[in-house]
Amino acid sequence: MTAEPAIWTRGLAKHYGETEAVGGLDLSVGEGEIFGFLGPNGAGKSTTVEMLCTLLRPTAGVAEVAGYDVCDDQDEVRRRIGLVFQESTLDADLTAAQNLRLHADLYSIPYREGRRRVLAVLDMLGLATRSSDRVRNLSGGMRRRLQIGRVLLHDPRVIFLDEPTTGLDPQTRASIWRYLHELREERGVTVFLTTHQLEEAENCDQLAIIDGGRLVAEGSPAELKAVVAADLVVLRTADDEVAARVLSERYDLPSVVGPGGLRLRVADAARMVPRLCTGLSVPVYSVAVTAPTLDDAFLQHTGHAIRDTEDSRAERG
Ligand SMILES: Nc1ncnc2c1ncn2[C@@H]1O[C@H](COP(=O)(O)OP(=O)(O)OP(=O)(O)O)[C@@H](O)[C@H]1O
Ligand SMILES: [Mg+2]
Repeated sequence: MTAEPAIWTRGLAKHYGETEAVGGLDLSVGEGEIFGFLGPNGAGKSTTVEMLCTLLRPTAGVAEVAGYDVCDDQDEVRRRIGLVFQESTLDADLTAAQNLRLHADLYSIPYREGRRRVLAVLDMLGLATRSSDRVRNLSGGMRRRLQIGRVLLHDPRVIFLDEPTTGLDPQTRASIWRYLHELREERGVTVFLTTHQLEEAENCDQLAIIDGGRLVAEGSPAELKAVVAADLVVLRTADDEVAARVLSERYDLPSVVGPGGLRLRVADAARMVPRLCTGLSVPVYSVAVTAPTLDDAFLQHTGHAIRDTEDSRAERG
């Protein structure tokens, strides 16, 4: 692995009049990494991707992709990247194979070589038997795979995927993830993808959380979750109200009584729970311990849940 990062930015910013869409990002993505850019609607994910892909000029700051400046060396950057947009850019009236051919032509790949690569990509996508089907007759998941596969035709070093699996069923989502991991193993490509799905972010090597155009945290999924130094413990007892009072008075632990039982956060639950259970003075019927999730990490880092922001933004219109 080379020392040079595949993507590097300093103070990268984009303003639209008074609106600060992206407010000065410092990012560094290592070669061969699967890097997840995680944030709610309107966080600035697509804007960042567009700047890195030379489609949008930054208001301030610098960015390099595959070693080239996104403003000064646009052609060099474009030759080395593949971009999958948030919205589909396939031609629905052309067949799967025709869409791929068109892309190969756009990149001036010689005819025979282009044909070979199209067949190889269709095979890799598991779409070889559907190559003559019009795109409009393919399922959403197949179209998505085709879009991702298409950018591989010109052998990019860095692939940008803007919300690659939004709206797909879990099975298709899993197959796209397997495919991305294969790509990384076989071709060593760097993958930069945006998502607002926390479950999906778990698949990335490194994550950056962006909120309101600013980076709020960076690290591996495990590192981000480690900040939430407490497991969720749910107890069912003979009398949850009494148990809650004992927890508060004897152990100084706040808890919430709800229909599902008594919920509390405890650091090092494996060690603490047996002690709690014997000291509660009411019988304990069941104990469930859940390690911190990325949802908890997001909440801890930003002060709000990722879905709350989306709901509240939706309400504001
Ligand atoms: N052309 C534009 N003119 C004005 N404001 C814009 C423009 N494009 C984006 N914005 C604003 O910049 C902010 C970031 O938008 P962006 O599309 O980057 O968010 P996002 O993180 O990709 O969101 P989503 O998850 O919904 O795709 C938003 O407030 C958006 O309204
Ligand atoms: Mg977007």
